[in-house]
Parts: sequence; structure tokens; C-alpha cells
Amino acid sequence: MPYTVPKLTDYSANGLLKAFADAKLAFRDEMREVKSEAEWKVFRDLWMARKNGILTQINDQLKKAPKEVKREFGQHLNELKQYIKSEIDSWHSFTEGGAGQLTAELERVDISLPGVRRAIGAEHPVIKTTNEMVRVFQKLGYSVAEGPVVETDYYNFESLNFPPNHPARDTQDTLFIAGQQSKPQRDRLLLRTHTSPVQIRTMETMRPPIRIVIPGTVHRNDPPDASHSPMFHQIEGLAVDTSITFGDLKGTLDHAMKEFFGSNVKTSFRPSFFPFTEPSAELFVSCFICGGSGKRGPDNAPCRPCKQTGWIEILGCGMVDPNVFEFVKDNGYDPKKVSGFAFGMGADRIALLKYGVDDLQLFFQGDVRFLQQWA
Ligand code: DAH
Repeated sequence: MPYTVPKLTDYSANGLLKAFADAKLAFRDEMREVKSEAEWKVFRDLWMARKNGILTQINDQLKKAPKEVKREFGQHLNELKQYIKSEIDSWHSFTEGGAGQLTAELERVDISLPGVRRAIGAEHPVIKTTNEMVRVFQKLGYSVAEGPVVETDYYNFESLNFPPNHPARDTQDTLFIAGQQSKPQRDRLLLRTHTSPVQIRTMETMRPPIRIVIPGTVHRNDPPDASHSPMFHQIEGLAVDTSITFGDLKGTLDHAMKEFFGSNVKTSFRPSFFPFTEPSAELFVSCFICGGSGKRGPDNAPCRPCKQTGWIEILGCGMVDPNVFEFVKDNGYDPKKVSGFAFGMGADRIALLKYGVDDLQLFFQGDVRFLQQWA
């Protein structure tokens, strides 16, 4: 028998308690019988319809109740309303889309349903590239070092053999921290323009021999476009020992490039200039996209990544300038006794080439549709 609201005569505390408990029990029993969406709607209206629903009928009784019990009556009613509403809502959310096969009661606690799977995310392509490159050097015995992004003029420039007012500083397009004018130049803060300052920082704390690889974020005052970003990533390397030669530099980097890009790539070293290395070089690898021919596909289309030259520039490198060692001489780096090589590359550019992405900005805009490709 469906529940009907009895005419209330006993307004005592116990009377009210019993009347509401009866209503609640009846609701629970009836709800157990609800098996389909259609039945659920009828049941919901029976109890909750504004016009003549059971809750409304009880509310009408509240209006007629003696003044002294109205408060208590109202509390019971509110509690019942909340209970009924949440039970009815939860029946629906548990059975949505699947009612009919199983009983309603079973579906409300169906532990066989798969859980809610949350995407765990994936490595960003630039970080992935960085980690892969770092791993190549770790396998050669290099340790990972890191340093601050907000750096002093001393570490970013002076100790790397850029004297004050050296023209090479202009090429760095430095972003300076405001309000530093009162400090001596070497103490002024800036956003590091390269990861090379970590060379000095590490040599200050670790005595030779050292082999370190340094991944990190750097900044330059470049407006963003398809190949520039004011924030980007570098991977630096430094090896110092008593008899390191340019041959070690070539052998190490040739091996690293083959390990990273594939054993069929060739390397080519061309003279260059950096204030902190002497001699300095740029390292090119044979284009791993066109195989070094400068042309692609059966119709010999021009290869864009290598600009049809068959070679792609990957990094700057060189033998550590003795003037750099002078700054850390007291920690065992006497330029007469030690020698070393260093290198630095742009991780973002390598990731662009590796994954065939044509716009650097895509890496930093955080569009999940783009980033999901690496998930
Ligand atoms: N720091 C240089 C730059 O950002 C890259 C570089 C060149 C790093 C030669 C080195 C190096 O360690 O030896 O352009």
C-alpha cells in the first residue's frame, strides 16, 4: 500500500517523532521497488511534487499545527525533506543511462563498475628531450648540476670572461632585475641568459676532475615568434681534468649525437667564438630528416629543417678558456694544470626538430590538444 499522510492528532514530542519515522520508513520501502527511470519519475513526483506531493501535504499539516510545536515540527520536516531529496537524487545519478537490467538497489552500489580514471599527464616534449639528452651524458659518467635562474652579473658574464662593456654582452639581450643600480655591477641581478654560469658555480664547490651536465631554463629579451621565446631551455656540459684535449671534446660529442639522433648521423665542427672557450666551435649534425641530402621524398622536395644544406646546427662548444679557470684557481683549477671542454645547446630547438613541430610557441601555450600528443 502506498504511503498516505495520516491525520496527525498527537503533537507530543514522541508523537511527532513516530509520525516522521513512519514516513521515512515508508519512503525507504517504496524506493526499493523503483526499478526504472519511468517509475523513478512517478515516485519522485509522489513524494516531492509541489502540488499535493507527500512533503507538501505534511507541510500543510505544519501550517495547521498548534503554535508551540511548529518549531519542532518544522525541524523534523526539514530533515525528512533533505533525506528524501538526497536519496532521490542519488538513485538517479547511480542509475543514469543504465536502468532496467539490474535492480535499482544493486546499481546504486555497483562495485563492478570501472572507477573514474584520471589522466596522469605526460612529460612535456621539451622536458622529455632534455631528459633523454641528459641521460646520454649520465651514461658517460656525467652528474647533473643545476643553478639559479635569477643570477648575478658576475656568474652570468664576468667570470665567463665577458669583461664589463664587452661587446659580446649585447648579443645576450639580457633581462635585468629592476632597481639594482646602486649595487656594484658584478652583484646586479638578472635572469640568466644561458646555463654557462653553472660551470663556475660548480667549479667553486667541486674540485677537479669533474664531468657535469646542466639542464635549465634561461631568458632573453626576444619577442616571441615561431623560433624565439623570451624563456627557453638549455643543456650545458663541462668536463675538466688534467689532460683533456679537443679530441676528447670531438669524441664525446660525436658519440652523444649518435646516441641521441641515431648511429647514422655524422658530425661536423666549425670554428666559432665564445668568450669563455678558446678555441670555440659550432657542432653540426647531418640532417636526420633528409639524411643529409638536403632533399626529401620521391619528388626531391627541398628539406626545410636543414635549409637544404644537409646539416643542422646543434650546439656551441670549445676548450675552457684559461681566463675562466683563473676565477676558480683556488679550488684546484690552476690553468697550468687542468684543461677542459664545455658545450651548450638549446633543448627547445632540438625538440622542435625531433618532433617536427613548426612553431616554438606551441610548446608554451599549454593547449592540452597539442600536449596530449605526447601522452
Ligand atoms: N652559452 C652559450 C649560449 O648560450 C652556448 C655555449 C657555447 C655554451 C659554448 C658552452 C660553450 O658551454 O662551450 O649561446
